Amino acid sequence: MKKMEGSAECSGSLSGRVALITGGAQGIGRAIAERFQQACAQVCILDRDVKTGEAAVRELTNRSPAMPVTFLRVDLEQPDEIRTVADSMQSSYGRLDILVNNAGVELDRAFPEMSVELWDRILAINLRAPFFLTQALLPLFTPDGGAVINVSSIHSTHAFPDSTAYACSKAGLVALTRNLALELAQRNIRVNAICPGYIDTRLWDEYLRTSSDGDELAQQVTDLHPMGRRGIPADVANAALFLATDCSSFVTGTQLVVDGGLTIRTHT
Ligand SMILES: NC(=O)c1ccc[n+]([C@@H]2O[C@H](COP(=O)([O-])OP(=O)(O)OC[C@H]3O[C@@H](n4cnc5c(N)ncnc54)[C@H](O)[C@@H]3O)[C@@H](O)[C@H]2O)c1
Repeated sequence: MKKMEGSAECSGSLSGRVALITGGAQGIGRAIAERFQQACAQVCILDRDVKTGEAAVRELTNRSPAMPVTFLRVDLEQPDEIRTVADSMQSSYGRLDILVNNAGVELDRAFPEMSVELWDRILAINLRAPFFLTQALLPLFTPDGGAVINVSSIHSTHAFPDSTAYACSKAGLVALTRNLALELAQRNIRVNAICPGYIDTRLWDEYLRTSSDGDELAQQVTDLHPMGRRGIPADVANAALFLATDCSSFVTGTQLVVDGGLTIRTHT
């Protein structure tokens, strides 16, 4: 394997790199797609939601016609569909430099109400898919290496009510990150996790909408943040850009917490 030398260079550019972002149709994934496109990467969005995915691709491509974004419809819950992704990327781009395992679901229930079927769905999308998608795409990374970024959560390290299966999936994703970082270091592939806190996306909107005291809850959550606000998708996208570029060339196996200080607080 080619050994990468340390370098003082850090342009923050992704020019010439190919990036695949799962769950890129909306929310955090879409913000990452937009940030990577701005950094001159060739971006492919993978999602199971065709309508939203194609709309995102249209908008991003119209904004920057010189850097067209493409869409791949895949349901990551289906191992057979995961196996098709490498062929699609090979024929469209011929290589892969950055994989962002971002797609995830928060379909949790209180512990006594969790079913085997729902546990399996949460774990299949949030943990099994990143494992087998990364495995399937490994041959597309060149000897120059690349970056895998797994979008985990502060649930991987902190307990929240009625979130046990989700937390297990996200803690598993951090374990996957560490172990793959070790396994893939010799191939110059850096593997890191991002642990977002409360980020205003559909996931969080839905949670508030279905809560009886949504507005009050939103304010309570905001007040828990030392930085005085909840996060926005661009906050996570900026962290992803750092982990994707040479600016993080000696960073692997880590968890980058993006939560406005929420989890460092010991007293309210
Ligand atoms: N929003 C938050 O506060 C927050 C906090 C911590 C971690 N996260 C994590 O960030 C990631 C993105 O969350 P978000 O808030 O942007 O969610 P979102 O619901 O806005 O977007 C998730 C995207 O993933 C896609 N997706 C879901 N299941 C899929 C499947 N089986 N196959 C293909 N695509 C699938 C959806 O269609 C959707 O476009 C998730 O992994 C989530 O767990 C979010």
